[in-house]
Amino acid sequence: MTSLRAVIDLDVEGPQISKHLYGHFAEHLGRCIYGGFYVGDDSEIPNEGGIRLDVVEALRALNIPNLRWPGGCFADEYHWMDGIGPREERPRMVNTHWGDIEENNHFGTHEFMALCEMLGADPYVNGNVGSGTVKEMSDWVEYLTRDGDSPMARLRRANGRDKPWNVPFWGIGNEPWGCGGSMSAEHYAEEARRYATYCRNHGDNKLYKIAAGASEDDYHWTEQLMKALSCLGCQHDPKNIFQAITFHYYTVPGEWKDKGSATDFDADEYYTTLVKAQRIDELISGHSAVMDCYDPQKKVGLILDEWGTWFNVEPGTNPGFLYQQNTMRDALVASLHFDVFHEHAERLVMANIAQTVNVLQAMLLTDEATGELVLTPTYHVFEMNKGHQDAASLAVHLLGEDRAIDVDGAELRRVSSSASISGDTALVSLSNLHLTEATDITLDLRGREVTALTGRVLAPDDAAAHNVPGGTEAVTPRDLEIGPVVGGKVTVSLPPHSFATVSVQLTAG
Ligand code: AHR
Repeated sequence: MTSLRAVIDLDVEGPQISKHLYGHFAEHLGRCIYGGFYVGDDSEIPNEGGIRLDVVEALRALNIPNLRWPGGCFADEYHWMDGIGPREERPRMVNTHWGDIEENNHFGTHEFMALCEMLGADPYVNGNVGSGTVKEMSDWVEYLTRDGDSPMARLRRANGRDKPWNVPFWGIGNEPWGCGGSMSAEHYAEEARRYATYCRNHGDNKLYKIAAGASEDDYHWTEQLMKALSCLGCQHDPKNIFQAITFHYYTVPGEWKDKGSATDFDADEYYTTLVKAQRIDELISGHSAVMDCYDPQKKVGLILDEWGTWFNVEPGTNPGFLYQQNTMRDALVASLHFDVFHEHAERLVMANIAQTVNVLQAMLLTDEATGELVLTPTYHVFEMNKGHQDAASLAVHLLGEDRAIDVDGAELRRVSSSASISGDTALVSLSNLHLTEATDITLDLRGREVTALTGRVLAPDDAAAHNVPGGTEAVTPRDLEIGPVVGGKVTVSLPPHSFATVSVQLTAG
C-alpha cells in the first residue's frame, strides 16, 4: 500500500478560486438544448415555458455560476433575430455543423435568459463573428441590456420583456481559426478589436468581453491577441476592448478519427486518458507565460471555455450529436482539471465544461424515448467540489515516494489534490488516479485547529462504471471513513480510481 503525506497550511491563503471556473456550456448541438434543457411547453415532461424542471433542479444543486450559449461552432452561424418573437413564426435554418438538421429557433434569447434566471447562473452570450456583422452583434447587446427608449429596447418590449437583463459575459466569436471563420490570428485580432468596440456598455451593464482564443498549444494565437490588446498606436483605452482571452482543450484518448470508446477501455487507455487530461497544466502554464510577458499584473483573464472528454459517439446514435456515456474515468478527468484550475487561479478566471446535458462530458443524460434523467459521475465531482467556488486556494504539499505513476515515460500524478478555505471551513479534494491500487494519505493540517471532519467518496469497483437513464445508479457518492485527528493529522484511505472530498471544520478564526 502506498502512503503519502499532504501538508496543508490552513492559515496561508492563496488566490481566490473564481466560482466561474465551474462554468458550463450549452450549444445547439444534438440533444443538449432540444430534449436536454428544452422540451417545449406542450411536453408531458414537467416544464416552465418549455424548460425542463428536473434539469433545472439537478443543476441548481451544483450552483452553476455561468452558462455559455449558443455555441461553439453554432454561434458563428446563429442569427439572433431569428430566435425572438412568436415561436411558430420564427425563421428556420440548417444547423450545418451538428447533424445537418433543421433548427426551428424555438429556443432563443428570451428562453436562454429565462433558463439562466431559473438556474441562478450568469449568462455568457457568444456572439457571431464568422457569418455575422458588427451591427448584428451590437444590436444584440442593445436588445439584451438597454433600458429606456431605443430601437432594440422597444423590440424587446414588443416581445414581452420590459426591463433589460444583466449580461456580464460576452464572447466575440468562437474558434475563428476553424469553424468560426478560418481566420489567421493576425486577422482575427483586428476583428476582435473592431467587434468589441461596438459591444457597448448600456446603463449599468458592464460587459466582460472575451476574445476567442487558441486551440490547445497555439501560443502564437494568444500572443497576437495580447499584442492587439496592448494596442500600440491605438487611440482607445485597451480596457474598453476585451478583458479576457480563451483557449480550448479536449481530452481525446485516441486520434480525432477514432477517439476511443467512452465505456469500453483497457488499463492503457485509462492511463492515456488521464495523462492527456493532465496536459491541461502544461497548456495553462504556456498561455499564462505568454500573457505574463504583456500583462505581468494579470489584468487580462485567461478562460478555458471548452474542456472535457471527447470519445466516439455511443453506437447507434447520430455522429453529429456527440452523445457519449460518462464513467468514473470521466469523473477523474474532471477532478484532475479542477485541481489544476485551482493551482492557476490567479490567471485562469473562467472555465466551461463541454457540455452540460447530453453532449460530450455531460453532467446529465436524458433518455431520448422516455425523457428519463440521470446524473453522471462528472456531475458528482462538480457537486462535491462546489465548496471551492470563490474560496481562497490553499497549497497542498504532497510528500512521499511513489507520487507519480509511470505511463510510457510520462509521469501521472498518483494522487491529484487541491484545497481551499472559506471562513471556518476548508475543503480538500483528493483523486487517486491509480487504476488498481488504493493509496493512504495523511492530511497534515497546520495553522488552525480542526474541530470536525467529514468526507465523501466516489469509488465504484470498476473505472468504467456509469449511470444509465432509467437504470441503476452505479456511481454515486458515499460517506468516506475518516480516522481520528491526532495533532492535526488524519489518515484517509483512497480506493483505486476514486475521488474524495474532505470537509474540515475549524475553530473560529
Ligand atoms: O463542443 C463541441 C464543439 O467543439 C464546439 O462547437 C466547438 O467550439 C469545438 O470545436
